[in-house]
Amino acid sequence: MNSILDNRPGLRAAVEQVAEVAGYLWQKGWAERNGGNITVNVTEHVDEAIRALPALSGPMAIGTILPHLRGCYFYCKGTGKRMRDLARQPMQNGSIIRILDDCASYVIIADEPVLPTSELPSHLSMHNYLLATGSTYKASLHTHPIQLVAMSHNKELLKKDAMTHLLWSMIPETLAFAPLGLGIVPYTLPGSVRLAEATLEQIREYDVVLWEKHGVCAVGRDLMDAFDQVDVLNKSAEIYMCAKNMGFTPEGMTEEAMREVQEVFQLPKQRPC
Ligand code: 13P
Ligand code: ZN
Repeated sequence: MNSILDNRPGLRAAVEQVAEVAGYLWQKGWAERNGGNITVNVTEHVDEAIRALPALSGPMAIGTILPHLRGCYFYCKGTGKRMRDLARQPMQNGSIIRILDDCASYVIIADEPVLPTSELPSHLSMHNYLLATGSTYKASLHTHPIQLVAMSHNKELLKKDAMTHLLWSMIPETLAFAPLGLGIVPYTLPGSVRLAEATLEQIREYDVVLWEKHGVCAVGRDLMDAFDQVDVLNKSAEIYMCAKNMGFTPEGMTEEAMREVQEVFQLPKQRPC
């Protein structure tokens, strides 16, 4: 069967990276059943032939108006689809959509009429914000990392930047590779526009946002970048919980050691240790 990826190496590479990351999400145990979703802005790979492709669906409402997305194209995981299936067959478990001129609806254009993820309002709201601010970020990831979600069940840890500092202090790499820390969104109904709005508030400050008692949402230059940030943060959460399981509260790096990492790696200083 013909695919929109045929003879388009840039687009194919972007979708192949989605498949690779989907496999990692499954292997990590973060993607039970249809858990998690992925969107990637693929507009840079769109040519005249793609623009001329007929819609495979009628127009569907996003639920919110996103003016910076007019005419943009996104690869989206399909709703109800499994990451472990997407890892093998990304175009059968996801699709490419075109945002219509009203900036409030979209059509599916390829390869098959696979309905996009239920978290589309959050994903597209973040892409709209990224474009509005001139960001070069292209990817958005939502997943269910076990240890971070477990920690989100503790009210103390949900206070602003409490979890950020705890996770940073577990291992220097987390400070270096998740330098903006972890934003917090209080529990909100999955798939809702309210969740999209609350996520948007946090994404102004953080690349990774924790959805209380649900999962995380991350943005990045590409999908691997978004995944890596979640991975290092969850690694710190695992170290914290491992120490707790051994019967003690981990000491954490000293404030001085953390400041040294920030200086040597020339990290952003929005939230000094
Ligand atoms: P979808 O299958 O609609 O992508 O939903 C999965 C999910 O994790 C919702 O939060
Ligand atoms: Zn979810």
